[in-house]
Amino acid sequence: MSDYELPPLPYDYDALEPHVSEQVLTWHHDTHHQGYVNGWNSAEETLQSNREDGDFASSSGAIRNVTHNGSGHILHSIFWNNMSPNGGGEPEGDLRERIEEDFGSYEAWEGEFRAAASAAGGWALLVYDSHSEQLRNVVVDKHDQGALWGSHPILALDVWEHSYYYDYGPDRGDFVDNFFEVVDWDDVAERYDEAVSLFE
Ligand SMILES: [Fe+2]
Repeated sequence: MSDYELPPLPYDYDALEPHVSEQVLTWHHDTHHQGYVNGWNSAEETLQSNREDGDFASSSGAIRNVTHNGSGHILHSIFWNNMSPNGGGEPEGDLRERIEEDFGSYEAWEGEFRAAASAAGGWALLVYDSHSEQLRNVVVDKHDQGALWGSHPILALDVWEHSYYYDYGPDRGDFVDNFFEVVDWDDVAERYDEAVSLFE
């Protein structure tokens, strides 16, 4: 029995206003994120049932549902915690140094991340790539297309239309500007430290 659960938001639904509206956060968390949790549980149940029955006709679809819904659940959980009503500014400390080392400057990283966000069909991610031992920006379509194996997301920006259209219409760039006003760089730095420590 699979029992993934929707984690509560780490702040009130209206805490990120005016950058993300209470309405969008409510729909996004309670409906969309819940849907990915339900989809992951359902797919796991199908896989388990097929294993017991020895009938794998629907298993490949269920495996796809695991990566789609599972990645949706994982990335939304990171996304919520990457934001804070006290966020904004720029990264400091070890994370800042690593960004400058791997991208040349903070500005170069941000420019590249914004380009990823404008092109993605799902997410722009800043990841720690454990194979090459460096930070990278990644363009993700849906929730799981464009992944680089061995990479750990430390900053996730949801650019699905459900993330911004109600607040910003087609102006995704305006939404990205507002996302940077609420990025919790302390959370990103913690995720960076944790990702690096896994491979030391
Ligand atoms: Fe989303």
